[in-house]
Amino acid sequence: MQSLTAIDFSYNNLSGLVPGTGQFSYFNASSFVGNPDLCGPYLGPCSSAIEGAGSTHTRGPLSASFKLLLVTGLLICSIAFAVAAIIKARSLKKASEARAWKLTAFQRLEFTCDDVLDCLKEENIIGKGGAGVVYKGVMPNGEQVAVKRLPAAMSWGSSRDHGFSAEIQTLGRIRHRHIVRLLGFCSNHETNLLVYEYMPNGSLGEVLHGKKGGHLLWHTRYKIAVEAAKGLCYLHHDCSPLILHRDVKSNNILLDSDLEAHVADFGLAKFLQDSGTSECMSAIAGSYGYIAPEYAYTLKVDEKSDVYSFGVVLLELVTGRKPVGEFGDGVDIVQWVRRMTDSSKEGVLKILDPRLPTVPPDEVMHVFYVAMLCVEEQSVGRPTMREVVQILTDLPRPATTQGDDCEAPIREAQSSSSPPPDLLSI
Ligand SMILES: Nc1ncnc2c1ncn2[C@@H]1O[C@H](COP(=O)(O)OP(=O)(O)O)[C@@H](O)[C@H]1O
Ligand SMILES: [Mg+2]
Repeated sequence: MQSLTAIDFSYNNLSGLVPGTGQFSYFNASSFVGNPDLCGPYLGPCSSAIEGAGSTHTRGPLSASFKLLLVTGLLICSIAFAVAAIIKARSLKKASEARAWKLTAFQRLEFTCDDVLDCLKEENIIGKGGAGVVYKGVMPNGEQVAVKRLPAAMSWGSSRDHGFSAEIQTLGRIRHRHIVRLLGFCSNHETNLLVYEYMPNGSLGEVLHGKKGGHLLWHTRYKIAVEAAKGLCYLHHDCSPLILHRDVKSNNILLDSDLEAHVADFGLAKFLQDSGTSECMSAIAGSYGYIAPEYAYTLKVDEKSDVYSFGVVLLELVTGRKPVGEFGDGVDIVQWVRRMTDSSKEGVLKILDPRLPTVPPDEVMHVFYVAMLCVEEQSVGRPTMREVVQILTDLPRPATTQGDDCEAPIREAQSSSSPPPDLLSI
């Protein structure tokens, strides 16, 4: 209001600095009487105004550093908050992942899926086969297990879910001294992890064909043959419905700490077959060298196909050789053995594993004959697994008393002059 030249502020107890510029230059002291705390050009300096100016001056830098402090604090707080949020999100994700895993136990188990998942590390891998990767694991209570991670094609997501689940339940119910126990399995929507009891000495195939093969003395080999036969016999004759192994081979006979044999991976090849993943023959119905001839014609397997494969394992035990790869193109162990021996005693000694220091010849002959019975071209000519157990345990000796079930005890090796009459037909 440039026209304003006079104003009366008197006795209002105002305080502060009155500016001397603009319209204020028209006013005089009388306009401000009765306001002791006012100061300015015509009112004289007032201490509070000076102090106010001073404090404004010092508050400037103080508030700047305060602001800096505030900003830094906020920054630290927001970083801490972000870190906490990330950690929380991760733990939530882990928890929800763990929840997605389901443990199906076939006996009382003192571990969880989390414990099983912890085993799936590169350094724990103990083997890779047609049916997936196998990891060794130690559970919190110290129990050792083998975890088999099945290929994705055999997963729950496939259309064969129900079949898989039902069959695995069947396999989980099997209890036999010479069959590797399936303790349980963990599954989520895309993976199946089978948890087996752990066999410290690995597979017969690895031991027999590895450097330690020479340490497998004849008595041990014979014992392993009988024990594996009992395991298979149980699957074929004492399970209802009967279970075909479909992948009998030395790598699927596992050895515990006492070198006692346990049949592994029974029934699994079926799922591989169903799932249509068939990179190797193991994924169809057995592994190279172990497959019964009828499979080539009929594409069907029955228990006699398992018997054929078991015969090949017996030949491996006698000769110490792998079923294929050592005999030239297209020749497998069965053809080679037939060619070499003519089923004569001298012939058998020719094909015998040279790493065996001493052997009872009659026992070797006996096992060899059982092997040859098992690998008969015609499946009807092969014995059943029950018969295999009987004949194997019925070592040639005077006055035999044979057991007739799959639990027949292992006989002590004894010598005799000839194989049982039903073997002479070979
Ligand atoms: N329960 C087990 N205990 C100890 N080792 C095992 C067990 N199961 C499998 N393995 C090891 O893992 C290897 C691979 O097994 P697998 O995947 O079944 O393939 P394959 O039977 O063709 O060898 C076996 O040869 C064996 O050494
Ligand atoms: Mg196996």
